[in-house]
Amino acid sequence: MTDDTAQTQAVKTYRLQLLICAGTGCVSNRSFEVRDVLLEEVKKQNLSDEVEIVATGCQGFCAQGPIMIVQPDGIFYQMLTVDEIPHLVAEHLIKGRPVEKLMYVPAKGEQPIPKLSDIDFFSKQRLIVLKNRGLIDPEKIDEYIARQGYKALAKVVTSMSPEEVIEVLKTSGLRGRGGAGFGTGLKWELARKSPGDTKYIICNADEGDPGAFMDRSIVESDPHAVLEGMAIGAYAIGVGHGYVYIREEYPLATKRLHIAIDQAREYGLLGDGILGSDFSFDLTVHRGAGAFVCGEETSLIGSLEGRTPEPRIRPPFPAQSGLWGKPTNINNVETWANVPVIINRGGQWFASIGTESSKGTKVFSVVGNVTNTGLVEVPMGTTLREIVYDIGGGVQDGKKFKAVQTGGPSGGCIPESLMNLPIDYERLAEIGSIMGSGGLIVMDEETCMVDMARYFLDFLRGESCGKCTTCREGIAAMHDIVADICNGEGEPGQIELLRDLAETVGDASLCALGGTAPNPVLSTLRYFQDEYEAHINDKKCPAGVCRALIHYRIDADKCKGCMLCNKQCPQDAISGEVKEPQVIDDEACIKCGVCRESCKFDAVLIE
Ligand SMILES: Cc1cc2nc3c(=O)[nH]c(=O)nc-3n(C[C@H](O)[C@H](O)[C@H](O)COP(=O)(O)O)c2cc1C
Ligand code: FES
Repeated sequence: MTDDTAQTQAVKTYRLQLLICAGTGCVSNRSFEVRDVLLEEVKKQNLSDEVEIVATGCQGFCAQGPIMIVQPDGIFYQMLTVDEIPHLVAEHLIKGRPVEKLMYVPAKGEQPIPKLSDIDFFSKQRLIVLKNRGLIDPEKIDEYIARQGYKALAKVVTSMSPEEVIEVLKTSGLRGRGGAGFGTGLKWELARKSPGDTKYIICNADEGDPGAFMDRSIVESDPHAVLEGMAIGAYAIGVGHGYVYIREEYPLATKRLHIAIDQAREYGLLGDGILGSDFSFDLTVHRGAGAFVCGEETSLIGSLEGRTPEPRIRPPFPAQSGLWGKPTNINNVETWANVPVIINRGGQWFASIGTESSKGTKVFSVVGNVTNTGLVEVPMGTTLREIVYDIGGGVQDGKKFKAVQTGGPSGGCIPESLMNLPIDYERLAEIGSIMGSGGLIVMDEETCMVDMARYFLDFLRGESCGKCTTCREGIAAMHDIVADICNGEGEPGQIELLRDLAETVGDASLCALGGTAPNPVLSTLRYFQDEYEAHINDKKCPAGVCRALIHYRIDADKCKGCMLCNKQCPQDAISGEVKEPQVIDDEACIKCGVCRESCKFDAVLIE
C-alpha cells in the first residue's frame, strides 16, 4: 500500500500498538467487545504501560472484520472473537509469537500472510483520500494533526489568496467524486464570482447507492480531512457557513462528525478568526431522511430548506442560486477530503496521477461475488481486472466471472471482454456505464443479467420522486416489461420496445436519476442480449435464477440417498428411500433452492 504521506511508526512510549478497527463493518461484528476484552486482558497481564490499544476508523477490509493491526511489525489479524483474545495476548504480546490461525489466508490451502503490507488487498492500493485509515483514532484531533492535519488550512489562511487556492485546484484537475465529475476548481470559481455577500458550501454525504459505503467510511475514519477540505473551500469561495448533509442511517459517522467539529472549534480551526486570521467559518450537520433522490444537489438543497426533496430544472445552478437563493457550492465527501492533500502536495503532483482526463485516485466499494469485499482506493486508469482480481482476489468460491456493475443503481454492467479497460469518467461512459460515486458490484456466472436489470429498475422506480412523468412512468414501464420477461411472459418485440423506452426516459427526464436509469437495461441489452432472447424465445433462464423458467431435478447417478434434501424441503416435495435416488415432484416444488444448497454431492440440477 503506497501512502502519500510519511508512514507513522508506533508511538515511541509503547512497545506495541494495537490498532483495532471501529468502522461500522467491524463494529457490527463486535469489534468494541473485542477491544474491551483486549483492554481487560492487557491490564490483567500488567501490559498497560507497554501496549496501547487504539480504536481506528474503517481499515477497508470490512468482510474480514473485526480486524486488528499490531504495530510496529504490521501484523494483520482478522475475524477476531472475544474468546481468542487471552490466547492472542499470551502468545503474541507476551511471548512474541504471532498467532497464525488469526491471520489472512489468500485461498484455501495457501499459507497465512502475517503482514498487512504483504497482502495484495492492501499493497496494490494507492492511498490519498484514505491515507489515515487505520492509523489514527478518528475521535482524537491530535492524531489527525500529527499526520499533517490542518497544515493545508494553515497554509491557505496565512499565505494564499482565495484565487491562488482556486488555481491550485484547477491545476490539480480534481473532478467531483459524487458522480457527475465536474471540475472542482472551476465550480469553486463560479461560486466565488457569483454576486452576493452570503454564500454557502455543502458536503453531500447522502450516499444512497445500495452497496456503497465510501463516503461513510471516509467520514468515520478521517472526519477532520472532510472538515479541513470544507474550511479551505469556504476560504476560497468566500463562505462563512457550511452544511454537512448526512443520511440518518449513518449514526457512527454522524457522531464522529460532531466530535470532530467540537474539537476543531476548541482548537480555533472552526469558528471566528480561524488561526488568528480574519477568516471565520462554521458548520452545521443536517441529517437526511434517506431517500436516494436527496443526494441529487437541487433535491438536497430543498431538503435542507425543509421543502419536499424534488429536483428542479437547472439553470439556475446552485453556484448562482442555491440554498435560500444564495450562491452555493456543493461537493461530495471524497471531493472535499482530497482538498487538503492537494494544497499540501501541489496541483501538479495530483495531476501527475491518473489519466489524461481524470486525475488522482478513486475510492471504490467492491462488493458482490468477490473474494475480498471492501473499500479500495486506486489511481484513475487502473483496470477493472486489477481491481477485481489483483485486489479483490477474484470471484468467490472459484466460480466464473460474468460482469461487474459500476456506478450504483443507474450504472452499467460490464462484461469480461472489457475487463482490461483502464477506468476513468470518459471510458466508463463510452462503454455504457458511469463512474457514479464508486460502487462496484462483481457478479458471477450464476447471476441472471435480466433479473439484475429488474432489480435495479425496481430500486429506481421506488426512488423516483415522481415529479416528472418520463421518470415516474417510464422507469415503472421498463420495470414491468423486464419483470414479465423474468416471469416467462416475455414476447417478441419487447427488446425493441425496451430500447425505445430507455432512450426516451434518458433524454426527457428532469434530473440524472431518470437520465441514467436506462443504463442497467441498455448495458445488459448491449452485452447480454442473448440472455433476454433465451428468456423470451426459449422460455429459459441460462443462469438458473428466474423461478418461472427453471425446474429442479435430482441426478440419480450422483444422489447417494442421504435424505438431507428430503428432510429440508419445506413443501415435502421430495420423495425416495434411504440410500436410493430421491425424486422431486415438480408440481409441489416452489423452487426455493433449499435442496440444492443442502446437497453435499452436487446432485440437484437446475434445468
Ligand atoms: C439521484 C441522484 C443521487 C445522487 N446522490 C449523490 C450522493 O449520494 N452523493 C453525492 O455526493 N452526489 C450525489 N449525486 C450527485 C449530486 O447531484 C452532485 O452532482 C454532487 O454532490 C456534486 O459534488 P461533486 O462535484 O463533488 O461530485 C446524486 C445525483 C443524482 C441524480
Ligand atoms: S469496518 Fe473494519 S475494515 Fe471496514
